[in-house]
This record gives sequence, structure tokens and C-alpha cells, in this order.
Amino acid sequence: MADYYPYANRYPVNRGMPEKGRPREEVLGELREMAHDEDGFWQTGRCSGTMYCGDMEHYGFMTEAFGMYSHVNALQRDMCPSATRFEGEIIAMTLDMLHASQAPEGSSPCGSVTSGGTESILSAILAYREFAREHRGITQPQMILPETAHVAFEKGGHLFGLEVIRAPVDPETTLVDVDFVKSHITDRTALLVGSACNYGYGTIDAIDELSAIAVQHDIGLHVDGCLGGWILPWGEELGFDIPVFDFRLPGVTSISADTHKYGYGPKGSSVLCYRDKKLRQGLYFMQQEWSGGKYLSPGIAGSRSGGILAATWASLVSMGRDGYLRYAKKIFDTSYAMQDVVKDLPELKLMGKPAFCFSFRSDAFDIYHVNDLMRERGWRFNGQQHPNALHMCVTRPQTQDGVVESFKNDLAEGVAYAKNPKQEKATTGAVYGGLPKGDTAALEFVEGLMVKMLDAHQDVPDA
Ligand SMILES: Cc1ncc(COP(=O)(O)O)c(C=O)c1O
Repeated sequence: MADYYPYANRYPVNRGMPEKGRPREEVLGELREMAHDEDGFWQTGRCSGTMYCGDMEHYGFMTEAFGMYSHVNALQRDMCPSATRFEGEIIAMTLDMLHASQAPEGSSPCGSVTSGGTESILSAILAYREFAREHRGITQPQMILPETAHVAFEKGGHLFGLEVIRAPVDPETTLVDVDFVKSHITDRTALLVGSACNYGYGTIDAIDELSAIAVQHDIGLHVDGCLGGWILPWGEELGFDIPVFDFRLPGVTSISADTHKYGYGPKGSSVLCYRDKKLRQGLYFMQQEWSGGKYLSPGIAGSRSGGILAATWASLVSMGRDGYLRYAKKIFDTSYAMQDVVKDLPELKLMGKPAFCFSFRSDAFDIYHVNDLMRERGWRFNGQQHPNALHMCVTRPQTQDGVVESFKNDLAEGVAYAKNPKQEKATTGAVYGGLPKGDTAALEFVEGLMVKMLDAHQDVPDA
């Protein structure tokens, strides 16, 4: 097992409450040291996804905004009408970007701010389940997902009791088989799902075709724009080849778009947009008789920090359309330049027709051998399986000078290495979120080992 707790030798380990409080400056000093070391890893521009903005000044600006409201509970609106301003305007700006004003006549576009992509997806599933029960009498709901849809949908099916029907994708285009979706609709289908774009390959399902099916069968269609929702619209506007996936399509009834990804907001925020208020109401919870008082909340969370809303709002209004367009242009240009690097290497195969996030595989060798060498060079890609592939989600840190060139050099070396690797079995593999260096045990999906790893992420080491 790898060392999941490298700080044990450097700092005191709190196995219980310290008897005496420590001076703030000392505590901040420790925090600064760890943050500094960990930030150094991705600031090279060699880390796929996750650090979407990378601008330390922007982070400082959001921290200031967060600090003013971090202690505020957004559930107590009588004390913080500012939260209504932040939340309402974050949703309005997201709806505007996703062309909600062009939704079919009679629509009532709205949204909610959640803690991230997973919560937006879970919330959407719950809303569709409630809607299907109330308006269509469905008690054993199903949802039809592309096999490439984010795993959060499976989690939602698990948590809220929906049967998951996985539609296959075309191995060449990586797009969902729309005929399969169409032929698997039953009177229990509560929702269809498409991705714009999917996590694995960065490709965009044929949302127009899914929309037509949704209209024909009068079923909701959720578009997962958690990853792409805050960048693809700018790409379309800039003239890149991005198909329409938003509320301009008459069958699209909800879209998730993460402000904590390409909205460049603080981690812990996403927007779930609905075409109609009646769908959002499925998320409202009211209990009138509780001894603690009549309770009502708009979503899954109870207390929420006003700081996240303030910092997200600050990010959006400080960027504005011109800021988002400027950064999107750099990201798309960089991604296409990196894709050209992949296309120039005959042993590698670019998957489908991606945009800002792309994936590649090989028929000549196990792509994880390439990854082994790239990891030595400080690259951190996301690993896929069925088939083995690597993905690079291009963010602002990659748009720095020199990153495309070092990608070109290192990838060529990675390919040469993979043809003659040091060991037969690659030492890296397909684990979402990555693994600490040297942890090969978790590459074999043995449940006991995975449980140990998850435990190790949450427990202090023994003394
Ligand atoms: C397409 C897509 N959907 C959903 C999610 C889940 O988002 P989160 O990690 O914020 O919960 C991701 C995360 O990368 C994603 O890429």
C-alpha cells in the first residue's frame, strides 16, 4: 500500500483534540507549506483537468469574496438577502449562457446552485423521479444513459432507486447509440441522458437526436454539461465546431453546468438548470410538523456556506463574457494543438471528434506504458479502460508557453518507451482521480484493497 499520509513525519498527527490551542500563525504556516508544495505539482501545466483556472490572483480574489461570507448560512435568508442575489444571479447568468430564453414557449427556466457536478446530477435524478411519480404514476422508474455518462448517474440510480439502462456507444465516434436509446424506452422511463461533453473522451452525444426522441415520447432529457457546460458555449461562439446541446433544443429539459470547473469558481459549486419550474419543485422539501419548526429547503443540502455563493458570483461577474471567451480561445487552440501532436504519432489513435478534452489509445501497445514514462516526466493524465486510453482535459495551466512543446517531446519518448518497456505490466492504470505513485495494488480491482484505500483516505495512521 502506498503512503497516503506523507505528512506524518513532518507535522504533529492529531489523533485526538490537542489539549491547548495552537497559535494561528503557526497553523497558517503549516497550511501554507502544504498548499505551496501541492500547488507546485499542477502549476507546471502537466496535469489534466481539475485545476481549471490556475490563476493565483483570481484564487486570491475569490478567497477575499469567500472570506466575507464564509460564516454565513445561506439557509437563513432573513439574515442574508445577499445569498439570494448571488444565487439568483449565478443561475440567471448560467441560463443566459445556455440560451434558456430560446426554450419553447411556455417554459419557465430556473435553476439551483449545488455543491458540485455529482450533487447536480443526483438532484436532477431525484427531480425526474418525483416528477415521474407525480405526473405519470411511475413507481419503478428507469433512466437510459450512454455508457460514457458520468458514473454519478449510477450513484444516483443506486441512491434513489432508479434502474439504470446503459446504452452502448459507437467505438469509433464514442457517441451514444441513439437507436438503442429509442428502442429501450418503456412506460417506466423517467429520463434520458446525454453528455456535452462526456468525461472520458470529451465527445458530445447527438443531443439534437436525443432531444427529438424526448419530444416524441414526452420524456425529460438531462444534458450533463458538468464538464463542458461552462466552456462549450464560448467555443461555439468563437466558431469552433461545437454542436448545439442546450435549451435551444426543444427536448432538453435540464442541464448541469459546473461553475467550479470552467466557470473558474471555487471548488464546491455547480448549477443545475431546469427548463420548467415544475421539475425543480421535485427537489423542494417541506415538513410542517417538526418540533424544530416548519422546515423548508430547496435541495439536498441543509446549511450551505454563503461564501461559496459569494465567491462563485464574484468569479462569474469578474470574468464576464469577454473573459470567458478570451480564456476559451486559448484552451481550444491549445487542445487542438495537443491533438495534432497525438495525430502525428502513428502508434496513437485519437478517439472520436473531441474539443477541449481529448482521449487517445493505441493498438500497438498498452497505452499505460506511455503513461508510465509520462508520469516520470510529471504528467498526470486521467486513465480510462474498455479500451485502455488516456485523457487530457485541457485547462488554463496548459495554455502557458512551452507546455504543448514539452507534451510533444515527452509523448514521442513515451511512445518509444512503450515499444520496449522496462516491465511487462504497466505500473499505472485506470483509476478515476489517480493514485499515489507506486500504488500498483489498487490497479487490481479487489474490493478489500479498495476499501482499505478509501479507509486510508479518511483515517489517521496508527501511532
Ligand atoms: C461530464 C462530467 N459529469 C459529472 C462530473 C462530476 O462532477 P464532480 O466531480 O464535480 O462531482 C464530472 C467530473 O469531472 C464530469 O466530467
